[in-house]
Amino acid sequence: MTTQKELFTPCDLVIYGGLGDLSRRKLIISLYRLENGQFLEADTRIIAVDRLSENTESFIKIAYKSLQEFLGTPIDEQIWKKFSARLSYQQMDLTKAEQYRIFNDITDSSKRVMVNYFAVAPFLFQHICQGLKHSDVLTDTSRMVMEKPIGYDLASSKEINDVVASVFNDDQVYRIDHYLGKETVLNLLALRFANSIFTTNWDHNTIDSVQITVAEEVGIEGRWEYFDQTGQLRDMMQNHLLQILTFVAMEPPVNLKAQSIHNEKIKVLAALRPITAENVHEKTVRGQYIKGTQKGQKVPGYLEEQGANTSSTTESFVAIRVDIDNWRWAGVPFYLRTGKCMKYKRTEIVINFKQLPHNIFTESFKNLPANKLIIHLQPNEGVEIQMLNKVPGIDENIKLQKTKLDLSFSETFKNSRIFGGYEKLILEAMRGNPTLFISRDEIEQAWTWIDSIQDAWEVTQEETKGYPAGSWGPVASVAMLARDGREWEE
Ligand code: BG6
Repeated sequence: MTTQKELFTPCDLVIYGGLGDLSRRKLIISLYRLENGQFLEADTRIIAVDRLSENTESFIKIAYKSLQEFLGTPIDEQIWKKFSARLSYQQMDLTKAEQYRIFNDITDSSKRVMVNYFAVAPFLFQHICQGLKHSDVLTDTSRMVMEKPIGYDLASSKEINDVVASVFNDDQVYRIDHYLGKETVLNLLALRFANSIFTTNWDHNTIDSVQITVAEEVGIEGRWEYFDQTGQLRDMMQNHLLQILTFVAMEPPVNLKAQSIHNEKIKVLAALRPITAENVHEKTVRGQYIKGTQKGQKVPGYLEEQGANTSSTTESFVAIRVDIDNWRWAGVPFYLRTGKCMKYKRTEIVINFKQLPHNIFTESFKNLPANKLIIHLQPNEGVEIQMLNKVPGIDENIKLQKTKLDLSFSETFKNSRIFGGYEKLILEAMRGNPTLFISRDEIEQAWTWIDSIQDAWEVTQEETKGYPAGSWGPVASVAMLARDGREWEE
């Protein structure tokens, strides 16, 4: 169990895969920002481990270059000085158990908690676990942080979790989904459980349908081989979109403790109606981008990207109608969609409320538009309610107009910085607070449902539909909602 004292213990943060993409693009950047915000304990140290023959001096140069490339703001040299003093590099062959003895010299469990960040491909997890066991360096306070993909399907995810469980107790394991560190995802808890208008209007009585969109502007960006074996269903839907869905759909937890939140999330995942070969065609759409135009620039298609296998049918877009079989959500479809190379980067949740049973404002609208709550997760974080108001005037008839109650986070919380998902989660892992991490049973439950789709696609040989880069996905995804008498929020 985490004690108050442990929350503030300095760490030896060991990043396996310290020279990798994740480390350079996200971890180093987030750690620097934590330094900037004075969130790092004075004695915390960061040890990058990788197989290339770098040394601390050259690694520090690599870290500086990463900041220049990915930080997005100028580097503060004072902060950098403090930050770089924490960095060191250790060359290691992660597959050689005897090499892990080095940690007995370079970490000190009497002064710092060892936090092992596995930023490597999953096939190395077993080697790292065995090496750490062999070195005898772990204590009860040590932790491990694991990145997705945690498996490729239910069976492989169980294998990974079993390997990790042979060395770490479950309360030492922190499974990251960086969307759970995003400010706006966390705000869902506040929005739903701190505001009575939403606690009482949040079920099948008042809500017609829910849409969750995670549209990415980027394409595959040089990781074609990895992505092609994974696809958007496993890369994004299994984790980020299902996690957002659990926050929208769960029952109120009894408190904010990790266990209470996990208990509610797992119930939602268990209530997802499986998709079968009989209904997969109506309930899902698979897409792959073809060449198109984004912001006036020509963009190549998925099969024309560097290193592409030109006969691949892997999906870069997926849309699903999800039904949740429980009392709260009976009859309320959740439409989820996510894709690469889409028109804009946009992550948002749209709660469509039901239409009123009778319209007395027919002068303005033949059909009164229903209210919508739109939660903008990124970019332009905020919350918007679409409602009708009377247009001011002394005309005989009351004239209505669609209006917005618009709360932009950056406008409202002018003095607060919006932290990135990784910053929040790395800090929580260092503090020993597991609330925002995913439990093993959540991951396995999510895989069970995703496997039902993947299996159904295989049985029916579901076609991958083309969509031009820079669009909102295949026409079939619009048709899927049209069949239900609805449309995507654009
Ligand atoms: C990652 C996926 O988990 O999330 C990537 O592997 C995706 O394919 C990324 O691009 C999106 O994250 P964000 O925070 O940019 O929305």
